Parts: sequence; structure tokens; C-alpha cells
Amino acid sequence: MALQHFGWFLGAGFGVQGWGDPTYGVGYDWKQPPVYQDAARVFEAAGLDLFIIEDGVTVPDTYGGSAEVNLAAARFVPKHDPLPLVPYLLAATEKIGIVPTLSASFYEPFTAARLLATLQHFANGRLGFNVVTSGSDLAAQNYGLDKQIDHDLRYDRAEEWVQVVRALWRSWDADAIVEDAAGGVFADFTKVRTIDHKGEFFQVRGPLNTAPLESEPVMVQAGASGKGQDFAGRNSDVILALASTPERMRAHREEVRAVAVRNGRNPDDLKVLFVVNPIVTANAEEAASTRAHRSQLTQAAIDEALQGVSYLSGVDFKKFELDAPLPELTTNSNQGTLDNFVKSAPAGSTLREILQARANKDGLAIIGTPDEIADHLGELSEAVGGDGFLFTGQVHPANVHRTLDPLVPALRRRGLLRTELGDGGLRANLTDF
Ligand SMILES: Cc1cc2nc3c(=O)[nH]c(=O)nc-3n(C[C@H](O)[C@H](O)[C@H](O)COP(=O)(O)O)c2cc1C
Repeated sequence: MALQHFGWFLGAGFGVQGWGDPTYGVGYDWKQPPVYQDAARVFEAAGLDLFIIEDGVTVPDTYGGSAEVNLAAARFVPKHDPLPLVPYLLAATEKIGIVPTLSASFYEPFTAARLLATLQHFANGRLGFNVVTSGSDLAAQNYGLDKQIDHDLRYDRAEEWVQVVRALWRSWDADAIVEDAAGGVFADFTKVRTIDHKGEFFQVRGPLNTAPLESEPVMVQAGASGKGQDFAGRNSDVILALASTPERMRAHREEVRAVAVRNGRNPDDLKVLFVVNPIVTANAEEAASTRAHRSQLTQAAIDEALQGVSYLSGVDFKKFELDAPLPELTTNSNQGTLDNFVKSAPAGSTLREILQARANKDGLAIIGTPDEIADHLGELSEAVGGDGFLFTGQVHPANVHRTLDPLVPALRRRGLLRTELGDGGLRANLTDF
């Protein structure tokens, strides 16, 4: 089996970790850095390439027009901004890539370029950024808009945003700082240029006023619609993708790789990593009871599933009859997520049937003994022809250890997981196989 890249996607962001789990709050405070620092150390020792931290800027109240379910269950809220966490994670580790989420819709490109350049200097090449376009109208209403701009236009704007950010990073030549004390020259003015960008969405003079970068932060992106794949295939180094069927995973990867080729890129520079949730059990009996428990469609499970898809798609799923076929739906928000949800059951299925199919399949969960999970990931990587996986889940040490302690040796025995990270930075680790 071929070596795969692994990482951890923290879906709860710099937010509440493990509410509802018996270990909630034991020995840590989710509002403080140590729990994330401890997790990052374990990820690094395990040979994970990167640690991605989700973010969003709303208190979601799409589901039933109320934030009740989200606040009661601590789903998507409350959370801190992940950027100030980055230096703490860098200080706690030496080799793993640290990837906060950043919104191209709400950060001016100059602000983003400057922040990321500063952090990349701290990071010695270990920084990435998960660039999102923030599809939610609720988010847009926190930034002076009535609603989010059109889906495709959002990607056009993000495209220009990336070009401006990169042009700003390149506005200083790498050797512009000469520090020539005898000659009285700190930086050579011929190596620092304005960018004079005047585009459809942004007007930025430049140059950037931070020091030049030795390597640019690694760009991560998760767009799954046609337009999203196009944006990601042209610009991303890593694609954050949802694992569904091996056929859909394979098609997704092939499509973004084809976009990369059409844009003159080497498709092997682009790593498509699928999010999976490994749930380690001791034996077949425990796996069966875990599966049976997780497939029960209780009211809490229905609310949990529907608040999530309501927030991510901007469609209020509370208004649909559970036992009626779901109507045709479109969204200006996350199209790929909505599409994935609707296609979980055959066309014409009722909402309850869709929910039951998802509960039976259990989303991104892979339930089994460490050897079964490792075998499954090996088979999946061969079927998809893929680059690797991102584990997801909260980062209380109990969860991190119960997942990785047994799984890491099982993955290593199969030659799927590296034994050590290189020290050349995130891009080097991602492209060394
Ligand atoms: C695994 C995964 C993680 C994501 N993480 C975030 C995030 O942290 N913040 C956010 O605003 N959007 C996030 N998104 C949304 C994507 O950035 C993107 O906007 C969304 O998938 C819509 O793109 P599409 O319409 O092209 O499918 C995530 C999506 C996926 C699939």
C-alpha cells in the first residue's frame, strides 16, 4: 500500500470540544490554548502533516428560525477566532503544519496577506490557510451586507482575492533585505514594488509592508461545486473534501486534478484529502452496538443532523415534513454540502429516509477495530487513487488518544502512515510523496 498524507480537521474550530461526552471539560478549558497545543503535539508525533481549524462568524439560527438547538447543543457556537491560536500551536510543535480558516469574503486581501505573512515568519514554512467564501447570509449580515453575494460571483471575487494576496507576497524580492550596515542600506528599494492592482473587486496599491517570505503559506480549499472545484483546482495546494462513496470521491479528485492540468499545474502538487471520522472499537460486538446506537433516529439525532445541514446550506430544514419527499432544493450557500445531503438516499426519498440512510451509513464514521479501520482506509485510498485523509473529531485528549494510539501503529504496519515528518515545512512534507 502507498504512503498517504494524514491530517486532522477540527470541525468544531477553536470552540466547544466534546459537549455531551462524559469527558467534557475534564482537565481543560476549551477557551484556552493548552488543549489544542496538547493535541497538536500528539498529531505531530503521530506523523500527521497538518492540523486544520474550522471557522465561522455567526450564531446560527437557520434551523427553525431560532438558535435554540445550536446553543443548547453547542453546535458551531460559541467559538474563538482561530488566528490568535496559531502562535500557541507553533510554539508547542516543530514540524506539523498549522492551518487556520480565513474568509476571503470578510478579510481585505491586504489585511490577510499581512497577517499570514507575519504568521509564516513565526512558522518557518509551516503555515497554511483554509480559504473560505462564507456562504451564510447570517455571516454577511455581520459585515454590512443584507445577504451574501451570489455563489459564483463569490468565487470570482475569491479568485481575484487570491491573486492580490499572492501579488502582495511577491511585491518584495526574496533578497530585498540586504542589511548592509557599512553601505547604510537595510533594504534595496529596487527590489520592492507596488502591485497597482485595479480589478473588478479590489483596488490595492502595495507593496506589502512586511518582510519577504521564503515560502508562501499553503493554500487549502473545500469548494465542491463546479465553480468551487475550478477555483480550488487552479489555486489550492490541498483540497479538503468530504468522503462519500469511493466513486464520488474518485470523480471529485479527478476533476480537480484535471482543472490543475488545464491551468498548467502539476496535478501531483495538489493533494485531495478526504475527511473521515474513525471510531475505534475493541471487537465486532462493540462495533455492532456502536453502529446500532448511532443509527437510531431519535429527535436529538434528527435535530443534530438538521441543524447542521440547515446552517451549512442556509435552507431551514425544520419547515419540511419528515415523511414527505424532499422538494427540489437549491442554495446560494454551500452547494456541495447540500448536494451530498440530498443524494444520501435515492431521488424521491422522504426527509426521514434520507436521515435514516445517513444514520445507517453514519456520515464520515468508520467504525471498527484499529486493523479494520486501517484496512478500510487502505482499500479506500486504492479505490480513489487518493492522496490521503483528514481525521475529524473534537480534540479533548481522551478522544485524540482513544483514536490515534491504536490507529497509528495499525496504519504504519500497512505502510500507509509515515513514521516521521520532515523539517522542511508544510509544502515540503505534502509533496515529498
Ligand atoms: C470539509 C469541509 C470543511 C469546511 N470548512 C469550512 C470552514 O471552516 N468555514 C467555512 O466558512 N466554510 C467551510 N467549508 C465550506 C467550504 O469552504 C465551501 O464554501 C463550501 O464547501 C461551498 O462550496 P461549494 O458551493 O463550491 O460546494 C467547509 C467545507 C467542507 C466540505
